[in-house]
Amino acid sequence: MRIKCVIAAGGLGTRLQGFRDNDKTKVLLEVNSMPMINQQINQLKQWGVEEFVIVTSPNFDSLIREVTSQAFPDLTINYTIQDNPKGISHAFSKAEQYICTGDTVIFVLGDNFFEENLTKEVDFNKFSNEGGCIIFTKKVTNPNEFGVATVDNLGNVMNIEEKPAKPKSNLAVVGLYIFDSLAMSKIKKLSPSSRGEYEITDLINMYINEKKCTNVEFDGWWVDAGTPDRIIELENLLP
Ligand code: DAU
Repeated sequence: MRIKCVIAAGGLGTRLQGFRDNDKTKVLLEVNSMPMINQQINQLKQWGVEEFVIVTSPNFDSLIREVTSQAFPDLTINYTIQDNPKGISHAFSKAEQYICTGDTVIFVLGDNFFEENLTKEVDFNKFSNEGGCIIFTKKVTNPNEFGVATVDNLGNVMNIEEKPAKPKSNLAVVGLYIFDSLAMSKIKKLSPSSRGEYEITDLINMYINEKKCTNVEFDGWWVDAGTPDRIIELENLLP
């Protein structure tokens, strides 16, 4: 069984342009004196991940390669460019050349940080045999700002919606997912959403329809560091 981690580090990060003179992309912003992408790799390295694929945007690919390979010479890091930010599933699909049949993939959004190792109770051997996808959720007071899941008593996911105006639950789906390698072929069947993006929630819905999506709810802190306020919050929370 092989576990690979794909980090979505494309996108424009427009909500952070100008913050601390930032003229780059979000993941190159310094968080406690370390580029966010390196904080992200550090987080996952502490969880035991050793093999990475980073999805970059064309303008910042070489800079992202430079800062990550210098900081982590001991890790296997591959890079792939997403030419246009056409959505999170689209970013994920760019890792296809590095995902082999049977691989287990942890897919993480570059700006999502967690207090604890979310995957610590995942039985990766069982997952590798059974396949499917696992989402991680946390109860929040503002679910309309995130993907929102409804879950049955056994932890099976019944439904997931992207930023619904009327959320059916208070369970926000955080930006870290575990997928089997079939995700790569499933993405090819997706169509753009009403906002024109290949949504991660639509990929997860394909697994839900096959009854192959389970949920792990957690309590520790979670920061989606997409705005100046949340970066400052993250800086205070990181050890
Ligand atoms: O933080 C959790 C939330 O992340 C989930 O609850 C949502 O379901 C999910 O759609 C996502 O929502 P965001 O509004 O936070 O997504 P955002 O567009 O900010 O993208 C998150 C990261 O993914 C961003 O830091 C860069 C990367 N990205 C995004 C897009 C749209 C890419 O690499 N390529 C892309 O095309």
